[in-house]
This record gives sequence, C-alpha cells and structure tokens, in this order.
Amino acid sequence: MGIGRGKLLLFGEHAAVYGHPALGLATADHTRVTASAVEPESSPMGVVRVGNTKLPLIIRGVEDAYINVLYTAVERTIETARISFRELEAFSAGLQLTIESTIPTASGFGSSAALCVALARELVASGRSGFTETWQIANEVERIFHGTPSGIDTGLSLSNGLQALYPGPPALPTRQPVSSGSFALVYGGVPRVGDTRSLVAHVRQGMEASRSETVAAVDALGAIARTALSVCVTDAPAAQLGSLCSEAQAHLRSLALSTDELEQRIETARRSGALGGKLSGAGGGGAWFAVYETPEAAREGFLHVRREIPASERSLLRVLAVSGSDVRTIE
Ligand code: MEV
Repeated sequence: MGIGRGKLLLFGEHAAVYGHPALGLATADHTRVTASAVEPESSPMGVVRVGNTKLPLIIRGVEDAYINVLYTAVERTIETARISFRELEAFSAGLQLTIESTIPTASGFGSSAALCVALARELVASGRSGFTETWQIANEVERIFHGTPSGIDTGLSLSNGLQALYPGPPALPTRQPVSSGSFALVYGGVPRVGDTRSLVAHVRQGMEASRSETVAAVDALGAIARTALSVCVTDAPAAQLGSLCSEAQAHLRSLALSTDELEQRIETARRSGALGGKLSGAGGGGAWFAVYETPEAAREGFLHVRREIPASERSLLRVLAVSGSDVRTIE
C-alpha cells in the first residue's frame, strides 16, 4: 500500500513558483493506493503502456470524471520510474489499483500531490527508490494536474511536521524540518471556482508581462514567507504569524486569488479570536486557515466558526496545535 498525505500551505504559495521559500505541513488526511491482481472476469478494464507491452488496468474508488486522468497518471508513473514489465509480473493478467482518500479533491489540500506520492510509493518496488527519487517521480506526475508544480505540495505530502521548502527551479526544493514555537490553527475550505493550473497560469501571465503589480505582490509574498520562517521559531510566534497572514492575504487578494467566501471565512475566524488568517494553496476558493494563540483559543474559535459557516463546510473544519516539531490534530 502506498500513502500520500494532504497538505496545508501556511506561507509562500505562488511565490514558490518563482523561487521564494514556503512554509507548510502535512495534514492527517491521506490518500491510499493499493495494487492487487485483478479478479478473473473483472470488467471493464483499460490498458496502460509498460515499455513495449500493454498492461490491463482497473481503477477502483474514484469518480468517473477522474478515471481518464488517473490512467494517464499511472502510465506517467510507470514511465518516469522506468518500471519494467518484470517488476509488475505478478499483475501480468491485469493490475487493479484501489484508491481511498480522506482528502477533499480539488480544494487546495493537496489531493493530487498525495495521489502522485501514493502511486509512486505503491508502484515502485520498495527499496528501489528513496525519498528524493519518490519525490521526483511524484512531482513529474503532478505536472498532469498542475502544469508546472514547484515541488512544494509533493514535498509536504511526503513529510511530517512543519517544513520549510526552498525551491530552486527546475530542481526540487530543498526541505528543512522547522521546530517552531507554540501556536494553533483552525483550517477549513470553501467551494472552489478556479483550479490550480489556471490560477498559476494567471499569475505567470502577469509575471511574464512584467506587470509591476504582479511582480510586487509575488515579491512581497516571498518576503512574508521568509519573515514567517524566522518568526515561527521564536517562543510565542502566534501574534506575528497572524499579522503576516493578514498581509499575505491582502497581496493574494490583489492577485485576484481570493473569493468573497474566503474573505468571509477569514473574517468569521477573526471575530472568533483569530490573530489573522489567509487562503492556503492556489486560491480561487478552497483551503483557508486562521492562527490562534493557544489550542484552547483555537478550539473556541472552531466552535464559533462551525456555527457560522454553511453545513456543507463543517466536515472540513479542523484544529491543529503546532509546537516544536510536533503537529497535532486536536479536532
Ligand atoms: C499550490 O498548492 C501551490 C502553488 O504555489 C503552486 C506550486 O507551488 O506548484 C500555487
């Protein structure tokens, strides 16, 4: 079984694509991919290429809308990892991949990165690929979903605890565990109106045209991420992290990456005692989080926010306590 975890980006989204650092963590939610031999008379079955051969493949556990992209992802994993037909010999009559996930799809919580990591971990024989190779394979496959991933989502999906990521495109980012002072987070998600590929492309258009507003906002987001990295290792970082969230959110809004619903949830969190909040990930709806001083304050905030938001968003709401290298889901 291969597992990839969901992610929550705290600082550095979009700026990371241009080489700025990012700060984030892997969530407790995860995607699991299990390979097994197909049962006789299973159908319908597609095929994927393995070298010069075709391998019958069944994918279980995903909505029909994702099946085609899943076939492409499996084929790309096999190709990138140079998996030979011999390595998949046990499945020569047909491979069945069962996918189970607790990560909401297309919501900014890293569902595609987690899937790519889980696929690489399950399909590449254990012992054949180490951490970096698995990361490279997963990130190559993530191109199918995101176009030009910086590597931060797949890096977080493979990690534990709070992580600093230093991109050096085209290479994968350098990863460094962060031992932070204590703070707490409430995070949630709103319906998405944009997808990561087009939101990243929208920012790129501004960068390539050297639009001064886009360049200034991306640079500011990078500078905020760098400050957050130094603030979070101090003893009581919550208040400063909260203001950095508000600053970053203003720049993300100026890049048209926020939505009314995101703004409302962040405002609701502020009214519940949060010190600041922002969207997380590519934006266009999707994930958001807010910072609180203590787990107790975050738990109170959680109860307040849960009362105020639409019922459909309540199951996404979580509380995290961060301290040292430990990230604990408490709600
Ligand atoms: C998406 O979760 C994060 C972005 O910075 C894209 C990337 O880094 O690949 C928007």
